[in-house]
Amino acid sequence: MAHVQAPVSLEHPLVEHLLTLMDRKHHWAYPALTRAGLSRQQLLVHFRHEYLVYVRDFPVLLARALGNVPPIDEVRRALAENLYEEQTGGLSKTGPHPALFLKMMRGLGYEASEFAEDGQPLHPAALEYRAFLQRESTSLPWQAAVALLTIFLEGSANERAELAGTYVRRKGDALTLQHPLVQFYGCPPEAMVLTRAHALVEGDHRSDAWSMVLSNTVPGSKVEARVHAVCAEALTLWMRYRDGVAERMGLART
Ligand SMILES: [Fe+2]
Repeated sequence: MAHVQAPVSLEHPLVEHLLTLMDRKHHWAYPALTRAGLSRQQLLVHFRHEYLVYVRDFPVLLARALGNVPPIDEVRRALAENLYEEQTGGLSKTGPHPALFLKMMRGLGYEASEFAEDGQPLHPAALEYRAFLQRESTSLPWQAAVALLTIFLEGSANERAELAGTYVRRKGDALTLQHPLVQFYGCPPEAMVLTRAHALVEGDHRSDAWSMVLSNTVPGSKVEARVHAVCAEALTLWMRYRDGVAERMGLART
């Protein structure tokens, strides 16, 4: 797949502002998710929240943001490409990412019905974060919505290293065989199609994400301030959301 954006210039002042936020997108309960020791119920609480808060509707959130983009071909194209992959898996030749998530859950032994909206209500902080994502994805300026979805939500605490080229995502068999769900929780590697799909396309989507926002945000402008404010609020709400999930999982901060 070809890049549709020019290479990212990291000179823009927004880069450091956003990377400082991304450096903090790490939650104290995360290490518990990457080692053995969680019960099946604890794992289900985590994954059900992730699915209902943003995995299930991520393609629609992208579509909402795309709907506000003026005729800037490279931005519309990059978002459409991301949306196409998320809703169909057409680029990675896999499947819709929300369905691939449920396939991974089936590999762990959970039924799709356990991820229905009408089960146990989500933690209030999860509902608040979800409502924020739904609201902001359709708000102006579009640069803030795109930054929220493609930089903050799709990105991770590895963003700085990834942009610098010092963090390299694992691919292929190494990726699935070393995944904690396979290593510790009995998920068959063939159920991990989602992680393979992400490994195939996410690299290009990371650079597209930064290009879309930086190329269309004037340094020192109100738009730049809004991009930063929305992503900063996202971090605050995300942290509360993760605290809420940890609470529901019965994890205590040591
Ligand atoms: Fe995805």
